[in-house]
Amino acid sequence: MLGRDLSGLLAENDFQVIETDIHNMDITKITDVNAFIGEQKPDYIVHAAAYTDVDGAETRRDAAFLINEKGAENIAKMNVPMFYISTDYVFDGTKTSPYTTADVPNPVNTYGKTKLAGEIAIKKNNSRHYILRTSWLYGHKGKNFVETMINLASKHNELRVVDDQQGCPTGTIELSRAILLFLKEQKPFGTYHVCGSGSTTWFGFAKKIMEYMDIDIAVKPVTTGEFPRPARRPVYSVMDNNGLCPDWELSLVEYLRLRIYTKMS
Ligand SMILES: NC(=O)c1ccc[n+]([C@@H]2O[C@H](COP(=O)([O-])OP(=O)(O)OC[C@H]3O[C@@H](n4cnc5c(N)ncnc54)[C@H](OP(=O)(O)O)[C@@H]3O)[C@@H](O)[C@H]2O)c1
Repeated sequence: MLGRDLSGLLAENDFQVIETDIHNMDITKITDVNAFIGEQKPDYIVHAAAYTDVDGAETRRDAAFLINEKGAENIAKMNVPMFYISTDYVFDGTKTSPYTTADVPNPVNTYGKTKLAGEIAIKKNNSRHYILRTSWLYGHKGKNFVETMINLASKHNELRVVDDQQGCPTGTIELSRAILLFLKEQKPFGTYHVCGSGSTTWFGFAKKIMEYMDIDIAVKPVTTGEFPRPARRPVYSVMDNNGLCPDWELSLVEYLRLRIYTKMS
């Protein structure tokens, strides 16, 4: 989802982009990584591949660690300046004010543990890294909350959405623009939070999607307890982004507008 939008934006901005996926470079295999990176010799790597099924990671723990930890280590060992996309789920959610990069991660689910292990592997193996933590990501080219809500609204009379987890929705286009900015401005290597400004709950997010799409449907708040999932989620994973992205609602409006134009054309 991120990779597709990012490669389009970078190409529009005169970067030569080499796209890759598991078919020509399986990041868990060091021989694949050596061969592909060795041959292509990129100036930067954006490592956007991951095991991203948060609930699935609870039962497929080994696969999730192999991709998110070992895969990150293999990429880092190439010693090419790199971006690693991490997550708000490295935090435990016990804070009541936005998480800064000075806060100590303490993931509460396996996915968060694997992504944190990836961060650690990168720090250990490649000093020229940007670790960008993002959250509640949606984009035009993948399965995500916005599309799921619009799809559910077309099939049901009412939506029931969790209202006791708070975070920062982020468009893949905003994250891509931030990566472009880092490249253009050659920002100092390190860890950054790149997510929409402001925050909401999944319920608040769903309400705004329906409002901006002009879909007349009842959206009811429910608790996490009413929707048990295999992976525990942090109650509060709002991150301080230091002004790197616009307000999440503005980004959502832009996304939905483009979505309507794309569907019409
Ligand atoms: N989505 C979110 O809400 C969210 C939130 C915070 C952070 N992030 C992070 O943001 C990044 C991008 O997320 P996304 O939602 O764009 O992910 P995505 O759509 O799930 O894309 C991940 C890609 O990684 C590929 N992949 C999996 N295993 C691989 C391997 N061994 N070798 C090479 N490629 C492999 C997948 O290929 P297949 O499809 O063939 O498996 C898929 O194309 C990830 O690092 C994710 O952890 C996402």
